[in-house]
Amino acid sequence: MGFFSAFLCLILCSFENEFALAARDTKPHPLPHTTHTVEVKSLLPPTTCSPSTKGHNNNKASSVLKVVHKHGPCSKFHKSSKTSTTTCDEKYHAQILKQDQARVNSIHSRLNHNNNKDPLTQSAATTLPAKSGDVIGSGNYIVTVSLGTPAKQLSLIFDTGSDLTWTQCRPCLGSCYTQSEPIFDPSLSTSYKTISCTTAACIQLSSLGVKQSCFDSTCLYTAGYGDMSFSIEVFGSEKLTLTPTDVFDGFLFGCGLDNEGFFNGSAGLLGLGRSNISIVEQTANKYNRFFSYCLPSTSCSPGYLRFGKGGGSSNAVKFTTLSTVSQGDPYYSLNVTEINVGGTKLPISASVFSRGTIIDSGTVITRLPPTAYSALRAAFLQAMMSYPLTEGVFDILDTCYNFSSFKTVSYPSISFVFGDGLTQDLDATGIFYVVSVDQVCLAFTENKDDSQGGIIGNVQQKRLKVVYDVAGGRVGFAPAGCP
Ligand SMILES: *[C@@H]1O[C@H](CO)[C@@H](O)[C@H](O)[C@H]1NC(C)=O
Ligand SMILES: *[C@@H]1O[C@H](CO)[C@@H](O)[C@H](O)[C@H]1NC(C)=O
Ligand SMILES: *[C@@H]1O[C@H](CO)[C@@H](O)[C@H](O)[C@H]1NC(C)=O
Ligand SMILES: *[C@@H]1O[C@H](CO)[C@@H](O)[C@H](O)[C@H]1NC(C)=O
Repeated sequence: MGFFSAFLCLILCSFENEFALAARDTKPHPLPHTTHTVEVKSLLPPTTCSPSTKGHNNNKASSVLKVVHKHGPCSKFHKSSKTSTTTCDEKYHAQILKQDQARVNSIHSRLNHNNNKDPLTQSAATTLPAKSGDVIGSGNYIVTVSLGTPAKQLSLIFDTGSDLTWTQCRPCLGSCYTQSEPIFDPSLSTSYKTISCTTAACIQLSSLGVKQSCFDSTCLYTAGYGDMSFSIEVFGSEKLTLTPTDVFDGFLFGCGLDNEGFFNGSAGLLGLGRSNISIVEQTANKYNRFFSYCLPSTSCSPGYLRFGKGGGSSNAVKFTTLSTVSQGDPYYSLNVTEINVGGTKLPISASVFSRGTIIDSGTVITRLPPTAYSALRAAFLQAMMSYPLTEGVFDILDTCYNFSSFKTVSYPSISFVFGDGLTQDLDATGIFYVVSVDQVCLAFTENKDDSQGGIIGNVQQKRLKVVYDVAGGRVGFAPAGCP
């Protein structure tokens, strides 16, 4: 009997041991599978457009728009040059990264402004110059919608970091910048209406941080931007056509009469932010505040923006809770509590992230509190020790590698861990900012100090299906949503 119980124990106890080991394995520690290997050339953009895998297929519950990078060859703004044999957007990195910092400055200044609001200064705050800055021209990702009757196509930057949708309008009283489609002319549309100054829709504009005014009892607003330029817009309503079957009458938008040159290319902006003037709220009856998108891996391939549920593979989506924000704030904020590099939790106290982390489609490079960034950088350098570092060409990218003598590279996985337990791995294309094969940089940077909140930029969102279930108070992710 003793033999049998010993035998039984041998089996059961080892079984238990395995269980204990398996349980311990869920604790983060370095594992081989937390390093990934990719071909270097898969990180570099091709020069030709790949055909869209997600077209304008529609069902009743959703509407799908194609997303392209502003500077890629899929975009109408791309001036193809016969002699160009290099990557798609090489010339634009300096411009993109400079505008990116201007956008981040304006997000931080707006958040800071809201945080400092107390009952004593609140009334004074509303008289401050407009700071709807959030719409600096970085955006980068473009969708095409139609406005008016007859419907005119307009390519707009889609932006989860701002609320008001606007486009340039005739007659350009001040200045209009160059755009690829004809500038919208409201006098040629039978469905255009101006908004009276006394309506709630007009009055609410001031709560969004834009400066509202009146001309001939018509509602106008002035939007100021982080770089000190501004635009003057007539607040109007129009028929908005997303797809032939998804048409919205009386959509509130800005008709820009005087626009500075910072949006060069696109016809304006599609605001997907959280306040009730955004397209998400204005189409809530149809889509129930549900949208998703996938930002393509390179500027040469298309992604999508989908309004409403539908579109399959939703069971692969894992969600995390959306934090509440202050009134009139457009931003989607998540509760990041940890970052893992190569499967190991970085030694950062959760309090470093206590200012919250915004997820933004318009910011390019992810911003982290300096304490978090230096830990991330140190772990990344360690894991990438076998590759030659090279001096960064752009100030905000300080960790760059020369991959020109490598066919494949192995890099550590990087994941965001959220307060409610979700661990989300980034795609390879969401870790590196590729300037060229000998300038492949870690696509993260640091804020000025730890008091500024983090921002998950659009590089880190690449190829992920990002799902906004605003009514359900959550944001979800699924891998490999688009090419
Ligand atoms: C948004 O909310 C404000 C105040 O809560 C209200 O006055 C306004 O009519 C709402 N706008 C829309 C478009 O629903
Ligand atoms: C806008 O684009 C036009 C035409 O492509 C160009 O001539 C002009 O310099 C650009 N302006 C800015 C501010 O980038
Ligand atoms: C990158 O590495 C290659 C091969 O080692 C070398 O020839 C080239 O000069 C390096 N480029 C830079 C910018 O350092
Ligand atoms: C974030 O998550 C942590 C851990 O679950 C929790 O203690 C904290 O209260 C959360 N913060 C917010 C703002 O939800």
